[in-house]
Amino acid sequence: MRAIVFAGAGGNEVVRVEERPDPVPGSEEVLVRVRYAGLNPADTAQRAGHYPAPPGSPPDVPGLEVAGTIEACGAAVTTWRPGERVFGLVGGGGLASLVPVHERCVARVPDSLDEREAAAVPEAFITAHDAIMGQCGLRPGETLLVHGAAGGVGTAAVQIGLVGGARVLGAVRSERAAEAVRALGGEAVPDDGFAGAVLESTGGRGADVVLELVGASHFPGNLRVLAPKGRIAVVGVASGGEVTLSLLALMMKRATLRGTVLRARPLEEKALAVRSFERELVPHLASGRIRPLVDSVFPLAEIAAAFDRLDGPGKVGKVLLELA
Ligand SMILES: NC(=O)c1ccc[n+]([C@@H]2O[C@H](COP(=O)([O-])OP(=O)(O)OC[C@H]3O[C@@H](n4cnc5c(N)ncnc54)[C@H](OP(=O)(O)O)[C@@H]3O)[C@@H](O)[C@H]2O)c1
Repeated sequence: MRAIVFAGAGGNEVVRVEERPDPVPGSEEVLVRVRYAGLNPADTAQRAGHYPAPPGSPPDVPGLEVAGTIEACGAAVTTWRPGERVFGLVGGGGLASLVPVHERCVARVPDSLDEREAAAVPEAFITAHDAIMGQCGLRPGETLLVHGAAGGVGTAAVQIGLVGGARVLGAVRSERAAEAVRALGGEAVPDDGFAGAVLESTGGRGADVVLELVGASHFPGNLRVLAPKGRIAVVGVASGGEVTLSLLALMMKRATLRGTVLRARPLEEKALAVRSFERELVPHLASGRIRPLVDSVFPLAEIAAAFDRLDGPGKVGKVLLELA
């Protein structure tokens, strides 16, 4: 198989494309043949040496998600057969043309999605769904504020909030990103000065749920805009991870502040997140009510440009790598 390999820690100079022996699926794993793979900020954090793969995942092949066609099944697999299209989560090793993944960590790809669209789904939609619905319990009629709303997770989050019957405000820092939020049915607010804009557009009540995909720069504004009994989920901290927080404000709003990661979860918890994504979101992907957004697709030979695009500003949706 062909794989992206990190030959050390650093920038694009440590990135290689290598031929590796084809993996053999474990007894409860399926082996997925991949044509398109989604890139994630975690991949470049791993490349820099800041985010090692969890135990049990290949240490030098990045990639957190998988979408493709089942090539082979382990001896104990009962749910899947070769030829079926699946997408799901891996702890690492996703940027390869063949990826072994536990059978409970994949879901069936609906016919409505082609190979590219399917590759743009798993990490973004499962992360957003788990945080917004699973952990913050967003309810119909509530208001969701999404930071970093035009990125991979952000565009998924905006749609998940809307399909859940919420009003969705997406904080962005360019007009192109604002247009993308509006095209999805959300309302764009400027990243700079988001607190005033959110309070004004909600008549002073604020947001019931805040999905934090950017980090420290949005605190204490996030607490300011939080409605009574509001919930904040911290999912990304690229802009910084240290904040000064008013515990009194947290108390007075009876607020909940949660942090979450998908990658480091034990198998059973990851499988649960995939199953609830399959039950609650895949039907909406099948009907076309929600759809993955693909920002750009790069051939394998242009992996450095793909990582640069991922790291750069101005994306709308996911960056994909074509492995075939
Ligand atoms: N905890 C988990 O399990 C988990 C899972 C998946 C992702 N994540 C994290 O969640 C974050 C989002 O992931 P993603 O895949 O959506 O990334 P992405 O596609 O790169 O999107 C990031 C978005 O954040 C915006 N942004 C970046 N820096 C900003 C800043 N300083 N101020 C305001 N906006 C800023 C970007 O807007 P511009 O275009 O204007 O730069 C972009 O729209 C990342 O930090 C990622 O590591 C965590």
